[in-house]
Amino acid sequence: MNVLLIGSGGREHALAWKLAQSPRLHTLFAAPGNPGIAAHARIVALDVTDHAAVVDFVAAQSIKLVVIGPEAPLVDGLADSLRAAGVAVFGPSAAAARLEGSKAFTKALCDRAGIPTAGYAHVASLDDGLAALDRFGVPVVVKADGLAAGKGVTVAETREQAEAALNDLFSAPGGEAVIEEFLEGEEASLFVLTDGTAILPFGSAQDHKRVGDGDTGPNTGGMGAYSPALVLTPDLEARAIAEIIWPTVRTLAAEGTPFSGVLYAGLMLTPNGPKLIEYNARFGDPECQVLMMRLEEDLLDVLLAVAEGRLGERGPARFADDTALTVVMAARGYPGTPQSGGTIGGVVSAEATGAKIFQAGTRLAEGQLVAAGGRVLAVTASGADVQAAQTAAYAALDVIDFPSGFCRRDIGWREIARTG
Ligand code: AMP
Ligand code: GLY
Repeated sequence: MNVLLIGSGGREHALAWKLAQSPRLHTLFAAPGNPGIAAHARIVALDVTDHAAVVDFVAAQSIKLVVIGPEAPLVDGLADSLRAAGVAVFGPSAAAARLEGSKAFTKALCDRAGIPTAGYAHVASLDDGLAALDRFGVPVVVKADGLAAGKGVTVAETREQAEAALNDLFSAPGGEAVIEEFLEGEEASLFVLTDGTAILPFGSAQDHKRVGDGDTGPNTGGMGAYSPALVLTPDLEARAIAEIIWPTVRTLAAEGTPFSGVLYAGLMLTPNGPKLIEYNARFGDPECQVLMMRLEEDLLDVLLAVAEGRLGERGPARFADDTALTVVMAARGYPGTPQSGGTIGGVVSAEATGAKIFQAGTRLAEGQLVAAGGRVLAVTASGADVQAAQTAAYAALDVIDFPSGFCRRDIGWREIARTG
């Protein structure tokens, strides 16, 4: 079977690597891809915002499944255009992807479906925002409404910080914001595949969003992750599925906008149980890298079952019962302006240690691998527990020669602190 993968990050490299292991795969195409993905796929120059061009390419190459990695093409309705042309797609419609594209949409859904989440106010002007602050204490959370690549959220410790965040959001016309109650607890990510009717729990992970060791500094897209997240115990996972995932799947289906793809629930494990912080409508990056390391299924088979609405025929997904851990190497400057073009060496030697180096922002310049983005590599390894996986990941990372790059040295620290 021919498959087209949309995207160019470490997440897509991990998906390509796993899809390429399927005995059912004939040719994998990737747009726009990257040099790591090119080891598994034929890279094609397709403008994914030109839906007609993607539909034509799919027909010309007899592609039977399109896997959409990132959120932007989902929110843009690429899955709808492909489905309208009769193509099987892994990824939700634009209407269902509003779960990620609009925080206000998700908050309103939580209200309708009785899903536990932080109390909130949705405001469309600075005056309403300032007035709403009176109803919340501090800390309080101020969020832009819309896709912001993890950068549109301010956790304000003081009223002044909250007002500054609101001023910022409403400095341009047309802004909308969500103000939220601050939730106490530890965060975990839960992944669940759904075809709109059936669900398939697909693993857990814990991300590291801040740029610096000890979870300090600005938010990023994620500097490292490990899976499983033991803090999400089987009991808490069952609760999250019953109280958050099922009401979401059923409500969206009942309202005529079923969600088909992967629900990535960002959870806060509060003293009163799991609460939804946010939904994403795609796999996490770098969480996908650790999930794919542990997955013991034919990924093509699973994603096709989702796309064709046959998920209910499958048993539970099998994952290795070890731990996978990934450390992101970013280009200096990230999450601000990353330094581009820095040379990268030692990837082959690093993989000889048994690790897997997923590429994100890379390109080839005259045969030399160089940095071409904020997050550049995701160095991923497995071990019997998080400590062993961490040791293996950093052993591989230390073989990589990327002088203009940096990484956190403490990925997995919460779990390691717990288990001693
Ligand atoms: P989001 O983009 O909604 O995932 O928010 C980014 C990060 O901000 C989350 O991963 C949390 O660490 C933090 N955050 C968001 N909402 C809340 C909340 N209501 N209470 C506490 N922390 C939050
Ligand atoms: N690692 C966070 C995300 O993919 O949104």
